Amino acid sequence: MCGIVGYVGDRDASQILLKGLKRLEYRGYDSAGIVLINGGLKYCKGKGKVEKLGKMLKQNALAGTIGIGHTRWATHGEPNDVNSHPHLSESGKIAVVHNGIIENYTSLKKQLIERGRTFQSQTDTEVAAQLLEEIYTTSKGVTFEEAIRLALKQIVGTYGLAIVHTDRPDRIFIARKGSPLLLGIGDDEMFIASDASPIVEYTNKVIYLDDGEMAIVTKDNYEVKTIDDVALTKEVHELAISLDAIEKAGYPHFMLKEIFEQPRSIADCMRGRVNPDNGAIQLGGIEDVLDELVNARRIVIAACGTSWHSGLVGEYLFEYLAKTPVEVEYASEFRYRDPLIGKGDALLVISQSGETADTLAALREAKRRGALTLGICNVVGSTISRETDAGVFTHAGPEIGVASTKAFTAQVVVLMMMALAVGKRKGVLRQEQMLMYTKELAKIPSKVEYILEHIDEPVRKISGLFTYAPNFLYLGRSYNFPVALEGALKLKEISYIHAEGYPAAEMKHGPIALIDEMMPVVVIAATDHTNDKMISNIEEVKARKGRIISIMNDENSDVEDLSEFHISIPSTKDCFSPLLTVIPLQLLSYYIAVNRGCNVDQPRNLAKSVTVE
Ligand code: G6P
Repeated sequence: MCGIVGYVGDRDASQILLKGLKRLEYRGYDSAGIVLINGGLKYCKGKGKVEKLGKMLKQNALAGTIGIGHTRWATHGEPNDVNSHPHLSESGKIAVVHNGIIENYTSLKKQLIERGRTFQSQTDTEVAAQLLEEIYTTSKGVTFEEAIRLALKQIVGTYGLAIVHTDRPDRIFIARKGSPLLLGIGDDEMFIASDASPIVEYTNKVIYLDDGEMAIVTKDNYEVKTIDDVALTKEVHELAISLDAIEKAGYPHFMLKEIFEQPRSIADCMRGRVNPDNGAIQLGGIEDVLDELVNARRIVIAACGTSWHSGLVGEYLFEYLAKTPVEVEYASEFRYRDPLIGKGDALLVISQSGETADTLAALREAKRRGALTLGICNVVGSTISRETDAGVFTHAGPEIGVASTKAFTAQVVVLMMMALAVGKRKGVLRQEQMLMYTKELAKIPSKVEYILEHIDEPVRKISGLFTYAPNFLYLGRSYNFPVALEGALKLKEISYIHAEGYPAAEMKHGPIALIDEMMPVVVIAATDHTNDKMISNIEEVKARKGRIISIMNDENSDVEDLSEFHISIPSTKDCFSPLLTVIPLQLLSYYIAVNRGCNVDQPRNLAKSVTVE
């Protein structure tokens, strides 16, 4: 949610910032801007995508070798030219880009106005720039760095901030509370970013800032300290992401690339962890806490969006394979209840980005109450992955498309492996069951590959017939109920068609009233143990002339006969079925969105990483 980039070195800063913003655009794309120090501050910003900023810069090039940039997902003030970042102080000497929310900005702004300051924008960020300038210019003997510290003490809320001042033309100041920031160390040049994607092509050496920390960055040096001025020695991490992983590789969209990457991403997720020869599951990241997890009274899973859906699949998996009670919570709800969680419970948070504000807050709350905290994250080095007691990375590779696809399947694979590991350690799964499950799990990548090879064309055809449907209903049972939710979410997110997912039997308690000859109903009928019940539900839809599109196992003539369209996929164990059934749903939403001319990778109003509450 909003992207920050910064550069200091000898190269043309505006080109580096522009390229960096392009790579960060999946985090927010309402408006974009950059500012460079070159004598005074030179800036260019405006509503619209980074591409538009690029055009503006072509007409009005900015020269300089130090600067900061921002791509915005609006929180305060509509996306327009004035509200876009960077925001300058009244004198035009200080520029700020900011992720997060300054919660007390109204009162700070009021006080600043009373003291004579005038504001240009409706943003909370401009308040930071103005406050900073006021402190710096009115407090005797205070350095600019001290002024930043004093300003931060007055700010309530969250921030990832990058600041430049013409008085200190060789440096960028950054500070973090709640919104991620990292520092890339190059050769006589330094990079700043809200995630690693703009940095990978220049350096693989990074430092992650933690909450309450700031850094002063020049081209050949950096100083990291707490915002209370205590110097810190930070670990330098090595990035493992390659440049290929963050480019489209010939696909028209990141989303399509990521859908087609799933045979590999699922295999990567299982690599070295699933051994079908001896039935073992080896999860190094939770090995030390496995006994504690096995003995946990219950597992509470907290997450948002697609990650919440994978959590729901996890509930079925843990209960079936490990006989562990599980509750799945929206992280945003969990954190503001008075959750009954504590010692003896385990909280499992799931987050692709590892930065989602509500998920992080849920984690901190459960930790404070004494629960064991575990994480399933995709982004290595992310805040959630660093704050949990233990966890498992999904290793799906960078996911750039805003609508999550390969991260979902990888999260589900991790949940499967965790449930099997707990079931085994607990003694509820026997060795021959472990052999059977691991063998089947190991076949999933090739089954996904088979599906992608065989259904792309039929799904494309079906999508053409439903491009302008105003509504869609998705039905599933058991393990595939969360997949119905996920299918509906994918369609909503990228095509803006209203879609709902429902447990198939629950349809009778309301949504059935919507069914007529105009209503496409996607039925996920690929789990054996619910097959008969599902067929009854399909009959109910058919009796009301709903247009049935079914996802079914290879040969299921009962389902096939009842469906207007069917998509056949290979069968697997029921509990692994979501990994296969979700693939046609991802493609269906993708092709419908493309047919409708929607911006698939950057759907309106959404952002990839939601770092505000
Ligand atoms: C946003 C994204 C979704 C994602 C959700 C949770 O809404 O658009 O794709 O599922 O955040 O993100 P996380 O990074 O915590 O999985």
